[in-house]
Amino acid sequence: MRRAGLLDVLGRAGRKNVQGEEQQKLDVLANEAIKNAVGGSGRVCVLASEEEEEPIIPPADVNPGKYVLLFDPLDGSSNIDVNVSIGTIFSIHRRVSPGGPGTLRDLLQRGRDQVAAGYVIYGSSTVLVYSSGQGVHGFTLDPSIGEFLLWNADIRTPPMGRYYSVNESHWTRWSEGYRRAVSILKGLDGKGRGKNARYIGSLVADFHRNLLAGGVFLYPGDSAAPRGKLRLLYEAAPLAMIAEQAGGAASDGVRPILDIEPEELHQRTPLVIGSREDVALVERVLEEESEQAERL
Ligand code: AHG
Ligand code: MN
Ligand code: MN
Repeated sequence: MRRAGLLDVLGRAGRKNVQGEEQQKLDVLANEAIKNAVGGSGRVCVLASEEEEEPIIPPADVNPGKYVLLFDPLDGSSNIDVNVSIGTIFSIHRRVSPGGPGTLRDLLQRGRDQVAAGYVIYGSSTVLVYSSGQGVHGFTLDPSIGEFLLWNADIRTPPMGRYYSVNESHWTRWSEGYRRAVSILKGLDGKGRGKNARYIGSLVADFHRNLLAGGVFLYPGDSAAPRGKLRLLYEAAPLAMIAEQAGGAASDGVRPILDIEPEELHQRTPLVIGSREDVALVERVLEEESEQAERL
């Protein structure tokens, strides 16, 4: 990606992925790179990618491993060609099927059961953030030696943040609840100073900033897309594990993302993620609005 403008790897690949979204050339390259690196490692029995409709079974000459990998090879497609931060998100489970090639059942596990999760962000520096259930650890790539070096052994997120991050151009399609919640985050209720707006349009980059500085990221469901845009298994759940492990929270507006029982590989979910008190505020407002709607 660092040399993207010098090679013929920018722009569209000319096909669509399973979600009907236009694939970029780098989406396809990143998918292949991760499949090849992990698929042949002997560590996994099955993989799933945003870019592929079906589960990916490792080559037959590789012994199936005991882990399962779900990944978003390149997150932030709209930012690839314009040199804005993008990333890779991954989720790791232990297999539940007894042996042989992994199955869909291995992939459809609750976020709460992840053994590890994390992301890499290709920004002004390349950073790896992961958790295996004992806090959140951050590493920075030192390009001069080609190694990731520990930069923060125990990342904690502020309980309340200074930023709110949401694509507000979807305002007219939101429910009353989301409109009111975002109004409060902006300080329009007159009770507080309101938060600063920050929205990059790369989930990884928006999440990473809010993790470090404090804040809340929202991608609501709306009248056009009731479950929103983001995918549960390889976007929301891994970042939810990082958020919770850092002292933050992640919700679909009603319940913790990590408690959702997945039904489909590419299922979408509304996402409210970040500082604990900010996520709780949004949940509270949504609940009040739905109670009021029931009374009417
Ligand atoms: P991807 O590039 O993996 O398809 O994900 C894009 C996602 C996510 O990174 C970001 O938060 C969101 O799309 C932005 O969507 P909007 O342009 O609708 O705000
Ligand atoms: Mn994505
Ligand atoms: Mn992607």
